[in-house]
Amino acid sequence: MMAQPSIHATTAATSGGTVPPLVVEHMAKSYDHHGRIVPVIADLSLTLREGEIVSIVGPSGCGKTTLLNTLCGLLVPDTGNIRWHGREVTGQPQNVGYMLQKDLLLPWRTALGNTMLGLEIRGLAAAEAEDRSRALLDQLGLHGFADHYPSTLSGGMRQRVALARTLVNEPDVLLLDEPFAALDFQSKLLLENDMLALVRKGRRSLLLITHDIEEAVSLADRVIVLSKRPTQVKAAYEIELGSDRTDVIALRERPDFSHHVRRIWADLDVVLQ
Ligand SMILES: Nc1ncnc2c1ncn2[C@@H]1O[C@H](COP(=O)(O)OP(=O)(O)O)[C@@H](O)[C@H]1O
Ligand SMILES: [Mg+2]
Repeated sequence: MMAQPSIHATTAATSGGTVPPLVVEHMAKSYDHHGRIVPVIADLSLTLREGEIVSIVGPSGCGKTTLLNTLCGLLVPDTGNIRWHGREVTGQPQNVGYMLQKDLLLPWRTALGNTMLGLEIRGLAAAEAEDRSRALLDQLGLHGFADHYPSTLSGGMRQRVALARTLVNEPDVLLLDEPFAALDFQSKLLLENDMLALVRKGRRSLLLITHDIEEAVSLADRVIVLSKRPTQVKAAYEIELGSDRTDVIALRERPDFSHHVRRIWADLDVVLQ
């Protein structure tokens, strides 16, 4: 059954009594474009619950990347507040892994070297950093590619390394900005499945920005739809697609899958330009 939209996207946020990993309240953000103030995020509130996967979809240019960059502390909101595990943080939040829209691997480091980067910076012993990184690369299907440089890997493999680099720090929360957008359909489905397994197994919370409605529905417990710029939450849907949410290919074949997709499509302010 389709849940009714909840415009604030925060319903049942505190069910179970635990503090949600992320709460955003009435956040606004604008850019100064050559002296002209351009409002990008109008008034945005949302909650990410523990262990929850939330997809955020919205029209191109509505402010999705601006939202993610603000959440991970790269931009400062004009007003409103962002609470990580109940606390307001200035700068970069702890235990949050993010993959930016244009997240590039360092070309002079191997897949292993790129994956280990964060652990090295944190001062972990080299042997442990390497063991953990190799184990994760294996789980992401890159066994045998640890010593390859990015230029010798396919686009899908490079995204797998970028994901490994984010996950190796064992973040409680992941923020991913269109991580699979540049991949061909098959590579995308395979990587979605592998990522889903790792996120669910680690009981991590995930906020996934995507412009792909089918991806949003197949991966998430909840989909938040943003309006066009200056953006705010337009609707939010609980995605109920049965208890086995591990196989995105099987999920896409369920009759209720297209029902969810059509509903969200109708919500998006998509105009031909
Ligand atoms: N640094 C910036 N300075 C001024 N305007 C920006 C800047 N970054 C993005 N914008 C504008 O903000 C709007 C939202 O951009 P963005 O957050 O990248 O959207 P989305 O990720 O949803 O496509 C766009 O109109 C874009 O042109
Ligand atoms: Mg973007």
